Order: sequence, then C-alpha cells, then structure tokens
Amino acid sequence: MMSSCVYIKLLFILFVIFYAESFNNDKKCAARPYFNKSVVCVCNATYCDEVTREEIACGQYIWYTSSKAGKRFEKYVSSLQYFPPSVEYQYSTLELDLNTRYQTVEGFGGAVTDAVGINWLNLTNPQLKQHFINSYFSDKGLQYSMMRVPIGGSDFSTHVYAYNEYPENDVKLSNFSLTYEDYTYKIPFIKAASAVAKTPIHIVSSTWSPPKWMKNTHKFLGISRLKEEFFQTYADYHKKFIEKYEEEGIPIWGITTTNEPLDGAAMPPKFNCLGWTVQTFGQWIKDNLGPTIKNWKPEVNILAVDDQRLAIPLWFDAVVDWNPGSLKYVDGIAVHSYMNKYIPPDILTRTQELYKNQFILTTEFCEGAMPWQQPKVDLGSWDRAVTYILNILEDLNYNLIGWIDWNLCLNSEGGPNWVQNFVDSPVIVFPERGEFVKQPMFYAMGHFSKFIPRGSIRIQVKELSNATINNVAFITPYNTVVVVLYNDKSVNRLIRLKLGIKQASVLVEADSVTTVEIPNGCG
Ligand SMILES: *[C@@H]1O[C@H](CO)[C@@H](O)[C@H](O)[C@H]1NC(C)=O
Ligand SMILES: *[C@@H]1O[C@H](CO)[C@@H](O)[C@H](O)[C@H]1NC(C)=O
Ligand SMILES: *[C@@H]1O[C@H](CO)[C@@H](O)[C@H](O)[C@H]1NC(C)=O
Ligand SMILES: *[C@@H]1O[C@H](CO)[C@@H](O)[C@H](O)[C@H]1NC(C)=O
Ligand SMILES: *[C@@H]1O[C@H](CO)[C@@H](O)[C@H](O)[C@H]1NC(C)=O
Repeated sequence: MMSSCVYIKLLFILFVIFYAESFNNDKKCAARPYFNKSVVCVCNATYCDEVTREEIACGQYIWYTSSKAGKRFEKYVSSLQYFPPSVEYQYSTLELDLNTRYQTVEGFGGAVTDAVGINWLNLTNPQLKQHFINSYFSDKGLQYSMMRVPIGGSDFSTHVYAYNEYPENDVKLSNFSLTYEDYTYKIPFIKAASAVAKTPIHIVSSTWSPPKWMKNTHKFLGISRLKEEFFQTYADYHKKFIEKYEEEGIPIWGITTTNEPLDGAAMPPKFNCLGWTVQTFGQWIKDNLGPTIKNWKPEVNILAVDDQRLAIPLWFDAVVDWNPGSLKYVDGIAVHSYMNKYIPPDILTRTQELYKNQFILTTEFCEGAMPWQQPKVDLGSWDRAVTYILNILEDLNYNLIGWIDWNLCLNSEGGPNWVQNFVDSPVIVFPERGEFVKQPMFYAMGHFSKFIPRGSIRIQVKELSNATINNVAFITPYNTVVVVLYNDKSVNRLIRLKLGIKQASVLVEADSVTTVEIPNGCG
C-alpha cells in the first residue's frame, strides 16, 4: 500500500510535470550521437542550432536543460507557486537569498589563439564561418563577453615566434610590429566576434615568451629568466602590443604578468615560456610593468599569477611579500583550472581574505591536456562537459568573477600546435566535410555564459533540505534570478527553489545541467 507521504509526493510531481510546458522555438541541435557517450551538434553552411534567451513574464519562470541523453537548451516554462510550508523539507529545496550578495561577474569567454584563427579560416565557406562566430558571440549563441589573446605566439601556433625578434638587444623595440598571424587570424576573428556581440568583449592578453634576446638562455624553450637589462623593455613590449591592437580598433581590457611562469621557472614544457624568481617578479611589476601601464592607461587591468591555483602562494603571496610596492599595480589574479581536482579551493578563500582589493578570474582550462587523457579529442564526451560544469560551479562559488576557456575551436587532431601538445575543445572543425561540431562542453559553457551576463551578482543559496544538488545563483542586470543546477545522478530530481514566499519547481533530469531564470520582484 502506498503511504500518504509518497502519495502527496507523487501528486506534487504530477502537478509540476503537468504544468511545465516544454517548447523549442529555436533551431534545434542537429544531433550526431556517439555510442555510450552523448551527442555533438553538427553545423554546416546551411544549418546551425541556435538558442535565444526568453523574456519571461512576471509570475512565470523558465528552465533550459542540456543532458547526457541529448537535450540541448530544451526550454520549459511554468508558473511560480506559493511556497507550501507544510511540505517544506520533504523535497530538495534551495532558498535563494537576495540579501546576501557576493562577487560581480565580469564575463565568460574563450581564447583566440593562432590555431583558432587557422581553423576558423579553414572552414572557408562564409556562412559556415558566420555560424561559428554567431554560435559563440551572438544573442542566438553563447553570448561570450571575454577573450584571451596571446601576445605573439603560444604552443597553439604553427611555429615559435615573438614580436621584435630582430634586431637583437633593441631596447627601444624599434622594430615592433604585429605579425602575419595577428593580421590574418586573430584580428579578423576578433572583429567578426565584436560585430555580433551585444556586450563589449573584454580581452585579456598574455605573453608566453619574449624574444630570445631578452632571456638569459637566448632560447624560447626551457628554464629561463629575463635579463635584468631588459626589464623595462619587456614592460614596454606589453605597452606596444596594447598600442598596436588599439590602432586596429581593439581595446585590451587586461594583461597577465606572463603565462604560466612556473613552466619557465621549474617545470619547462616543450613550448615557449619564461621563468621568474619570486624576487625579480615583484621587482619587475613594481619598477617596470606597473608604472609603464598604469601611468599610461590606468584602466588596463594587470593580472598576476596566470598559473594553476596551486601557484598563488608562490606567484602572488611571496612575490608581494618580497616587493610590497608591487601590490598596488595588481588588479587581480588569473588562475588556470587544470589541477583543480587535486588542489582544494580553500586556497582561493585564503587569498581573498588577505587581499580584499584583488579579484580572481579563470583564464585557462581545457580537457584532454593531461598525458593520460586519450583520445585528445573525445567526440561526444559528456564526462568532459561535467568537468567544465564542476570547475565553473566551484570557481563561481569561490567568488571568481569570470571564466575563460582555452581554444574556441581545434581540428580533429586537437591542433594545430607546433609541439603536438594536442588537447580537446568545445568546438571541433571538419573543413573537409564543410562542418564543425559542438561538443557537450560547448553547452556546458553556455549554461553559464548565456544567462549570467556581465554585472550579475552572485547571491547566497541556502539548503533547506539535506538532499542537495550542485548549484550557483545570481541576480542579473535584467532583475532576474538565475540558478544553474547540475544533477550528477542517473535519476531525475525534483528541486524547489524558494524565492520569498514563492517557489519554482524544477525537474532536473538525470545527468543534466539546467539553468533556471526567474523574474524578481513579482510579488
Ligand atoms: C546541413 O545540415 C542539415 C541539418 O542537419 C541537413 O539537413 C543538410 O542536408 C546539411 N547540408 C549538407 C550540405 O550537408
Ligand atoms: C559505457 O560507459 C560506461 C561508463 O562510462 C562503461 O563502464 C562501459 O564499459 C561502457 N560500455 C561500453 C560498451 O563501452
Ligand atoms: C624587423 O623585423 C622584420 C620582421 O618582422 C625583419 O624581417 C627585419 O629584418 C627586422 N629589421 C631589422 C633591422 O632587424
Ligand atoms: C584545413 O582543412 C583541410 C581540408 O579541407 C585539411 O586537409 C587541413 O589539414 C586543414 N588544416 C589544418 C591546419 O587543420
Ligand atoms: C535527511 O534528513 C532527514 C530528517 O532530518 C533524515 O531522516 C534523513 O536521514 C536525512 N537524509 C540524509 C541523506 O542525510
């Protein structure tokens, strides 16, 4: 016999399912399934899936679901209900507390490496190229509002290079000019993206290695240091880059103090890098980079670390301890999320407590980067989308202001990359077939980037029941409350979101990521 409790629960679930209307007024995913994994969505010159953000009437709410089973931004609308106190704790209930507020969001995005530009151009067909741009940047796509752009070459280039390689020892950088890669790949891509983005795109730029002649080793690769006689030149190198991009009509929002300095200090990879000592790093920021940039353009942000979160005590705390004068030039800390699984996020809290004026932003992550991760490009993988979802949820709940992915697209090998350091990407291009495919990771990014616009403020989520679910919540500039939920279970979950005296009941499907948007202040 059915107990009355189960009976009430069943009625409640039926009520929700009955009144939640599913609809899809967008171009749907042209799904290509991968056995035992999930689907990729195929875009060609004539067809590409789209997603629009719905304007929701007061008293209603919407949720968007993407699942391992193959849903992509499937929409459901329902009406807010009164929060029934009598059944308060019998269901998974999250209370959205608008009065407790945390960080303000800067944005979400991905990197425009040479490889991205090459793959994009290789699609050749103008409609197909436009579908790609729209998929990431337009309001029918993920609405990315940030980018990371290497200053010169990275490993995701076809060869190793820097600006002003010749003449050598040119302290005045008299021969500094942008390269073929800037004019052919990066600048046209950034312009195409900016043309469709409704929110100004904020670009973070990073140097992998300066020209060889600035380094004690006279090499792009391996453990190295900047020669002291070129400290000011390396600062000017950043200034010149910003100037040249501005001449092209592309403002730079921020620069990092060198990509992954741990590489060049102690753990040299097979690509271009630069190492520092703790002492000289702070000295360079305090005496050269900081004054050069800030006395010229105070609005350009300087981001320290730009390495795994594990490196914060070294590349921030210790750097600032040695050279306290460097701190006033640093606006924020850039972190890479590769090792997050192994490094507890408390390290972020500690830094935030010590340095209240500096923000933290994720500037790089991708799947397939670890040597044991095979294949490098794993088409249809839901597991890789889950890594993105969990990383982003954790980072946002630890007050990070945004999240920038690595390459926006790669080829089927995971390149091009001049040292074969192949990895995965949310979009893989197949120029020979006249198509690109959007991986589950693409939708994982979109569940955050599209619905949490710049200026959104994170709010507290209180767990009123013990059956919790991964979550993060924001109040947006549209005066809506946005909640992202991730169900890691292989069963559907009914989640109630309490907002004031009302509630939104949401059926979060098995193995799915769901974004809920609720207009605020509707009584
Ligand atoms: C493009 O994709 C659409 C939707 O999947 C499909 O109907 C159409 O045949 C494709 N066109 C080509 C040229 O493959
Ligand atoms: C399907 O995936 C599961 C878990 O990812 C794995 O345990 C199982 O072996 C896979 N089955 C096949 C036939 O590949
Ligand atoms: C200036 O740089 C270009 C490459 O950008 C190079 O071909 C040329 O030789 C350099 N000029 C001098 C004087 O080194
Ligand atoms: C560009 O596309 C062609 C096929 O159209 C392919 O052979 C070539 O490898 C691609 N280039 C890169 C760098 O992936
Ligand atoms: C949740 O809380 C209820 C009531 O306090 C308790 O009976 C139940 O065992 C708890 N469940 C879990 C999974 O902790």
